[in-house]
Amino acid sequence: MAELHLGQLMAYRGDPLVEGPEAVLPIRHGALLIANGMIVDIGEAADLCAAHPGATLVDHGDHLLSPGFIDAHVHYPQTAIIASWGKRLIDWLNSYTFPEEMRFGDPAYAADVAGRYLDLALSNGTTTACSYCTIHPQSVDAIFQAAQARGMRMLAGKTCMDRNAPEGLRDTAQTAYDQSAALLARWHGVDRLSYVITPRFSPTSSREQLSALGALWAEHPDCLMQTHLSEQVDEIAWVKSLYPEARDYLDTYESHGLLGENALYGHAIHLTPRESARIAEVGAALIHCPTSNSFIGSGLFDWPARMAEGQRIGLATDTGGGSNFSMLRTMAAAYEVGQLTHQPLHPAQLWWLATQGSARALRIGDKVGALAPGMEADFIAVDLASTPVIAQRATRANDFWEALFPTIMMGDDRAIAGVWIGGKKRA
Ligand code: GUN
Ligand code: ZN
Repeated sequence: MAELHLGQLMAYRGDPLVEGPEAVLPIRHGALLIANGMIVDIGEAADLCAAHPGATLVDHGDHLLSPGFIDAHVHYPQTAIIASWGKRLIDWLNSYTFPEEMRFGDPAYAADVAGRYLDLALSNGTTTACSYCTIHPQSVDAIFQAAQARGMRMLAGKTCMDRNAPEGLRDTAQTAYDQSAALLARWHGVDRLSYVITPRFSPTSSREQLSALGALWAEHPDCLMQTHLSEQVDEIAWVKSLYPEARDYLDTYESHGLLGENALYGHAIHLTPRESARIAEVGAALIHCPTSNSFIGSGLFDWPARMAEGQRIGLATDTGGGSNFSMLRTMAAAYEVGQLTHQPLHPAQLWWLATQGSARALRIGDKVGALAPGMEADFIAVDLASTPVIAQRATRANDFWEALFPTIMMGDDRAIAGVWIGGKKRA
């Protein structure tokens, strides 16, 4: 049975980071035709109502119908330690993160947090995420089973570490390869799930482990590979001391088979010219994690340089180094970083980053992240007057973008009026 959802919409005509905000077209009285879990048509409400008189009407009034948000870098196992005070990256990992990740050897605990994380994500309008797990294979099973039960498109992988991590949180080059290969065989391409090869970062992997995961990736080049790159200055100095032979941080990955177009590099704040040029040449993705970058004290993503290079960029919360589950809050933080680097991003660019930009970075831009015929029907209804302060600002707006921007800057889960996964209402 077809459903015709009426509301405000945005149609993506191109990449607004490259072509400018005009690449996103607001439709004030729009309609979305959904059938069999897919988007069948999108356009002006009057046109679609006339063309599909048999469809069930669902009128969302002035709410904005948007693709569900796509969070391109999260650590679901850090859900319970979000907002941990006072540490920078390496101390934060040792003080808060590693002790918490240790607990995921218990499948019941992993299942509990996986379900809690996905419910928090959905209540914030996030319908797809790309998550790190822990070294425990059961932490991967937990998130995939929880996503499967909710019908969600989800990407995740076992976080591999064989050094500079505590006893109980280390694998080896061989077990990292074997367990990742087994999880990939079990989950990759099942329902809406994708396995992501996941070395945590160079400091917690030996050369042998990076090479083993590089070999696994070469055997499965359609898989994504995610890791962290140049997040904090102290971390970069540590990488230099651990890998004196490397030209730079990126080279620790490149020389072990971990650079390619299906790579995702989280943070990527302090890049050298060689690193950024090489990443652009290869077409790998950079994942911007703005709340995390300020919360952990890492620095400012260089928006002007990265945009000038035409980098493929996704947006992410980096929960729980990031300080929020909300992609609205994350867009606001990205805007502030843009301001601090003299590249103020337009609301069209911010919203696109949180949907189609992240989807493209994750190589699923043809499936989710846009409202277009043939896409999977993961969408949300957003209330653009969700709190009194947002409502009073929005009434002063002169155009669509001015009406949207207060929700980007001040909105949270209260703005998410509904969430549909595969055309079915979930939250
Ligand atoms: N670098 C290596 N591991 C992590 C992590 O868990 N969070 C963040 N923000 N950076 C990292
Ligand atoms: Zn991370």
